[in-house]
Amino acid sequence: MNRRTFLKSVPALTVLASASTGFANDANEATGTNQQPIPQTYDVIKLNPPDLNRGISLMQALKKRKTNRDISDKRVTLQQLSDLLWAADGVNRPDGKRTSPAAMGIYCVDIYVVLPEGIYLYDAAKHELKPVAKGDFRKLAGMQDFVFIAPLNLVYVFTLKPAPNAPAPVPEEKRKIWGDVEVGCMVQNVYLYCASQGLAATVRGMVDQKKFGETIKVKPEQIVVAQTIGYPK
Ligand SMILES: Cc1cc2nc3c(=O)[nH]c(=O)nc-3n(C[C@H](O)[C@H](O)[C@H](O)COP(=O)(O)O)c2cc1C
Repeated sequence: MNRRTFLKSVPALTVLASASTGFANDANEATGTNQQPIPQTYDVIKLNPPDLNRGISLMQALKKRKTNRDISDKRVTLQQLSDLLWAADGVNRPDGKRTSPAAMGIYCVDIYVVLPEGIYLYDAAKHELKPVAKGDFRKLAGMQDFVFIAPLNLVYVFTLKPAPNAPAPVPEEKRKIWGDVEVGCMVQNVYLYCASQGLAATVRGMVDQKKFGETIKVKPEQIVVAQTIGYPK
């Protein structure tokens, strides 16, 4: 599915968590609506269009937002993965802009998705995952036991890609600060999505930056933070 088809498939660009129909019961029902699993193959993973009609109200999600490290090894579904990546930094407008803001529209953060089968790079324009490294790298994605068994870890990486469309030159030091802000927005979007779906999440500074960086071929200092997601125990 190309970007145009994907955007056509989004009926109304509403705020992700704005469809308020209740509280905890709704979240539980929503997590059970689509049980399609994430393909357990090391290949391109096509993500589903975001489901814009599930979730609790934004205010209820803010009330429930918290860090939860008691995460089980139960796998999240393809729809949950699709929705939370779209919430983090998906394309939400025809001009290609995203759910998270980026200074000057220069997108300088990549999201690496660590699944038990491998590491993948989120391509927001195509709304798909591209394979980067085959194998179980969860031990490199964190230093706390819950990370090693959790079904999903996101690693937020500052990129040094040139920004040819930047309206003005930006010093790298400034871009790095802006990149950190961009990551903060993505992390909070994922936290709110998880709160709205009854999922557990923990943002983490503790990542093996050297080894994880070597694996995905970036410098250690490019790795900003990681986030672990799964069902609460
Ligand atoms: C930048 C940053 C780094 C963090 N690093 C870790 C970490 O490595 N491991 C961890 O268990 N929690 C980590 N946390 C989560 C905080 O401990 C947590 O947000 C804090 O205790 C407040 O709890 P709350 O998120 O439930 O409000 C981090 C939070 C932030 C913002």
